[in-house]
Amino acid sequence: MSDSTDSRLKDDRRFVPAAEFSKHARVQSHAEYTSLHERSLSEPEAFWREHTQDLVFRKPWTSFQDWKSPDAKFFLGAELNISESCLDRHLKSDARTRAALVWEGEPGDSRTLTYFELHREVVRLSAALLDLGIQKGDRVGIYMGMVPEAVIAMLACARIGATHSVTFGGFSADSLRDRLNDCEARLLITQDGAYRRGNIVPLKQMADEAVLQARTVEKTIVLRRVGRERAPVEMRPGRDIWWDDLMARTPSPKSVERAMKPEAFDAEHPLFILYTSGSTGKPKGLLHTTAGYLAGVHVTSKYVFDLRPGDLYWCTADIGWITGHSYIVYGPLSCGAACLLYEGAPNFPDWGRFWSIIEKHGVSILYTAPTAIRAFIRAGDEWPQKYDLSSLRLLGSVGEPINPEAWTWYHRVIGGGRCPVVDTWWQTETGSIMLTTLPGACYSKPGSTGLPLFGVDIEVQKDSGEACAPNESGTLVIKRPWPSMARTIYKDPARYAETYWAAKNGSYVTGDGARRDEDGYFWVVGRIDDVLNVAGHRIGTAEIESALVSHPSVAEAAAVGRPDDLKGQALVVFVTVKSGIKADRALKDKLTEHVDKEIGKFARPDQIRFAEALPKTRSGKIMRRFLKDIAAGVVETKGDTSTLEDFNVLANLRKDDDA
Ligand code: WT7
Repeated sequence: MSDSTDSRLKDDRRFVPAAEFSKHARVQSHAEYTSLHERSLSEPEAFWREHTQDLVFRKPWTSFQDWKSPDAKFFLGAELNISESCLDRHLKSDARTRAALVWEGEPGDSRTLTYFELHREVVRLSAALLDLGIQKGDRVGIYMGMVPEAVIAMLACARIGATHSVTFGGFSADSLRDRLNDCEARLLITQDGAYRRGNIVPLKQMADEAVLQARTVEKTIVLRRVGRERAPVEMRPGRDIWWDDLMARTPSPKSVERAMKPEAFDAEHPLFILYTSGSTGKPKGLLHTTAGYLAGVHVTSKYVFDLRPGDLYWCTADIGWITGHSYIVYGPLSCGAACLLYEGAPNFPDWGRFWSIIEKHGVSILYTAPTAIRAFIRAGDEWPQKYDLSSLRLLGSVGEPINPEAWTWYHRVIGGGRCPVVDTWWQTETGSIMLTTLPGACYSKPGSTGLPLFGVDIEVQKDSGEACAPNESGTLVIKRPWPSMARTIYKDPARYAETYWAAKNGSYVTGDGARRDEDGYFWVVGRIDDVLNVAGHRIGTAEIESALVSHPSVAEAAAVGRPDDLKGQALVVFVTVKSGIKADRALKDKLTEHVDKEIGKFARPDQIRFAEALPKTRSGKIMRRFLKDIAAGVVETKGDTSTLEDFNVLANLRKDDDA
């Protein structure tokens, strides 16, 4: 492990929230936090009854949960339309004319939609989708950049009961195709192109390629964001419809009625499918349902971000990841918050962009990732110092372990020493934040992700299933189901059961390693399975490997993580080529392009190393831990090498000096 990890494990400074912050916070003391948490576990029914008061249920729930591992149901008997909690309910309050979305385009254009306007757009699109024949239960793919229409599309699907499946715009046509096929999407919503660091990502072109081999997709809705000149598109008659044309059509009166007064769905109605990486080559389509998910993201948004009228909240994640789903769309909107949405790269046109956005719009809450923070540190303090950041009152971190150096820089330089920093641990599977320090209530320790949130019964365990002693490392498990958890892997319940719920003691296995210190604070070290976290993006080693071996020149491939100061982990791949193939620079370039095409540019290996052979056990299993050492430049390999088939393999690999 890197030095930063070591220092993280030793860091035990405490940052106590300012009295001024605590005085106005929703939870004002550690004791109050503890009693709320205890109550959420001892009287879950009463706790959730109270804490879902603000949400719109057409029919109230009659029982809290039904749990027969691995099948969970929450809020049984409830009927609701999630979009009413996110939109309609705010039309009856002051929020009606307040900003719901404050959007900043990468070229510098901006646009604000009030709750009234967002509701109107969602209703319009809902009616149009109904007129296209999209029905409750149908799957709709969304492949868009960070534009308000992406949020409108998600909410319109939810409003008519269609299950959305968003694919991050950084994924390739092939990845999009696989996802559309897996969920059997009937419709795809995309845009001509997306701005990224001054360039254009040709989303529609890639969507065309994907849809060619996605037989279930009948229609494509295309938003014009960039324009003909820089993002030329071909519209296929009968299949492709411009977003604006669709919205300009006069909807049928019946659809208008159904869009205005939407149907209420069962608590467990499938809300969305989101694909994420696991330890096989095939991504997992995690299915989230309605009431439990809403309850989880609502309560955590409210308490963790301490949202209140007047705040401008900015989550910098992409809507294509769970962070965007939960903490750009459903959580904050269910709280009536004003959410900033930024389209582009953090360093476009320069490293001052984030700070200029905060100054321009008066952002008060910033939620971003450690990789971004480390990149800003590297770019230099002069960038944030050029701007007025005094509107900020709370900072958040998510997606990967934050090293104390980055934490303290964030606190001091961005937060001016006055803003609490909440490090939030959770996963695509958990739906909502599981661990953090409630701002105003609990002190933070840089590098620790804090304490369990409401309803979260979490522990560090040994392989035997026993709880670890304080400061003893083990695996992080959650001991009972919680409302916002994913319900299954779409069309693969067996994999869901086996991946998450196969522990003998019935706990949910997170896949992360952690320890809990003597104060009860959790320190998450990182994944213990074959999943990497590169720049906050989750990448399965098996996915990279299967992408590489699908190239005709490659015989075998092994992907491992290497500690990286900027990205947390860097992706290193070891490749053996087929006989007669020249392992040279040109092939490395080809393999890089191949990964771009198979998965997407964000999954590009940082280093490709050719090898004569890969270290294997006698039974032929690749010994990844040796490769990890070699990738990290560790000179002596520790641990048992007795099962290694051929010692020369290791010696030869070390000699490789990256041709
Ligand atoms: C994995 C989940 C849910 C947010 C976006 C990532 C790692 C996430 C933290 C944190 C240390 C973290 C874990 C987790 N992770 N947040 N605050 N500290 N590690 O969602 O793609 O499902 O990845 O990200 O390893 O298992 P995801």
